[in-house]
Amino acid sequence: MDNSKIKNIIENLRKELEYHNHKYYVEANPEISDFDYDMKMKELQKLEYENPEFFDSNSPTQRVGSDINEEFNQVKHKYDMLSLSNTYNEGELRDFDNRVKKLIDESIIYVCELKFDGTAIGLSYKNGVFEKAVTRGDGVFGDDVSNNVKTIKSIPLKLKGDFPEEFEIRGEIFLPKKVFEYLNKEREELGENQFANARNAAAGSLKMQNSAQVAKRKLDCYLYYPIGENLPSDSHFENLQHVKKWGFKISEHVKKANSIEDVLEYINYWEKNRAKLDFDIDGIVIKVDSLSKQKQLGFTAKSPRWAISYKFKAERVSTKLLSIDYQVGRTGAITPVANLEPVLLAGTTVKRASLHNADQIELLDIRVNDIVFVEKGGEIIPKIVAVDKTKRSENSEKPGYITRCPECGSELFREEGEAKHYCKNEYNCPPQIKGKIEHFISRKAMNIDGIGEETIDLLYKEGLINDITDLYNLKQEQLVNLERLGEKSAENIIKSIEESKKVGFSKVLYALGIRYVGETVAKKLSTHFKNIDNLQSADFDQLINVDEIGEKIAESLINFFSIEKNIYIINELKNNELQMQLSDEVISNHSEKLKNLSIVISGTFEKYSRDELKEMITINGGKNTGSISNKTDYILAGDKMGPSKLEKAEKLGIKIISEDDFLDMIK
Ligand code: IVH
Repeated sequence: MDNSKIKNIIENLRKELEYHNHKYYVEANPEISDFDYDMKMKELQKLEYENPEFFDSNSPTQRVGSDINEEFNQVKHKYDMLSLSNTYNEGELRDFDNRVKKLIDESIIYVCELKFDGTAIGLSYKNGVFEKAVTRGDGVFGDDVSNNVKTIKSIPLKLKGDFPEEFEIRGEIFLPKKVFEYLNKEREELGENQFANARNAAAGSLKMQNSAQVAKRKLDCYLYYPIGENLPSDSHFENLQHVKKWGFKISEHVKKANSIEDVLEYINYWEKNRAKLDFDIDGIVIKVDSLSKQKQLGFTAKSPRWAISYKFKAERVSTKLLSIDYQVGRTGAITPVANLEPVLLAGTTVKRASLHNADQIELLDIRVNDIVFVEKGGEIIPKIVAVDKTKRSENSEKPGYITRCPECGSELFREEGEAKHYCKNEYNCPPQIKGKIEHFISRKAMNIDGIGEETIDLLYKEGLINDITDLYNLKQEQLVNLERLGEKSAENIIKSIEESKKVGFSKVLYALGIRYVGETVAKKLSTHFKNIDNLQSADFDQLINVDEIGEKIAESLINFFSIEKNIYIINELKNNELQMQLSDEVISNHSEKLKNLSIVISGTFEKYSRDELKEMITINGGKNTGSISNKTDYILAGDKMGPSKLEKAEKLGIKIISEDDFLDMIK
């Protein structure tokens, strides 16, 4: 086939796939099956692979993201990315209306919009082609997160219709509620920290360094603010209808209002109905519709005078406190939890609320049978914010705080400066035993697949595991007989446990769950002491002499190795042939060539990944730091080093080295 024909097929496939993307992700009205879509995508991928001369960074194939870790370049916003000032009640909103009317002598039309609770983004387009996506940053400079944003399927990479040559459009990237719930559930199963709310999850996802991972997060984006010299209309409302035709996702709930009364009606409606939306909103945005009037009104230093937000109050209901339970966490920390008479709040039935700690109960003066006010702010877990003392019965009494662990009965302690009480019976208290095992098998530790919290619960109940060493004595037959586990899963679990014997020493050290020994400290310790015996026999002074190991960590290590049970665990792990020392290969690569040197890595590299380079710095005695300061010795710079970093490096006179220079240094 001749080249122009191939080019034609490629271009048509791209158009077709973008069309179906829009149908699926923007209009929620797909025309073809997922299978047909995948087939077309595969065909395009194949043609692009075979004909690299037709590469296009905005092809639908580029939305899958890339595995290259990258740092974000900082770029200056063409128009400052300001925020909105907030109002919280009708009076403040009327004040806004009066201020507008004072400056503009004519009648005012407002546009009411939902205030999406996500993270702001500015998208630039040139000649109908996606150019870049920049976060708010400090409002003047933001991070260029284009590669991550390209993975969001509802954002068009090529526009349709009659768009201006150059313009920007701002909007909010968010995670739909369902996706957020799924993501948090998955993180819980993996033993990772959960996101407090969908906003944090969206912002965190957008800043991930690996766009292929971002693609999996299923972010979405509503656009609400086109900016540019040649927008089609003087009406913001009309412009939104235009940009919708160009391919952007615009909320269907945008509404014009002829008076502040109409605005209040809109606010009232959404205050009552927001739980029905499948994404979070935290208020309403009110904008003057006419762009020329917007111009007349202008901006203050921080926000436009032509727009304002009305923030919803956190939803609050009252209900009866039935009893208080005490939960024991993985670390032995005690959290009091209120059992409530079930009540509907923000679309879900609430039965429990966290009481945090003893001080909180004291502060709120909460008693069983009280009528309490429960609020749901931006966070998933509702909280008790106050007690309705007018409804308190005369004979109610202050609840005494428990003195013994509700799980194992041992005495509770509260150390000075700590907000929480702790159960210190770490090896005999069930939630602590299970917590240690969960940490041990988690992805960043031994990475044992196929076992979640529920399976650990089951194995513990059946008496099959009591500590981490028991994992290595599990037999497939024992697992198959457990409820819910089939032959295949049992086999996978055993395989994965066996595989974990190859996991490197520093991860094993981290997996032991020694207090204050996180991933980085575990790396430092393993590099310095080389094996567990050396570490075990190190005294306080030897420990604090290691770079970045302070007194708190040293004390914790000494305490850990003074406990008989821990020595037993270490011996058992050794008997099971886990890696309790650095491998010969790692040791032979060790050197002190970068001793006392602090190196910042920036950009993308050809030969090694950023993680590999970081590892090389550490095993050669150097220190890898994230940001440039006057303590930085070198900047290891790859492609696409951020201009602001470059400027800072030059200002401080720090030497910039290439990947090859670096490899020469450690040769
Ligand atoms: S318009 C000049 N419209 O809320 C400011 N912002 O607290 C133009 N937001 O910075 C912003 N929904 O990140 C606008 N419909 C909407 C919005 C919205 C959410 C965010 C945005 C803004 C912040 C202000």
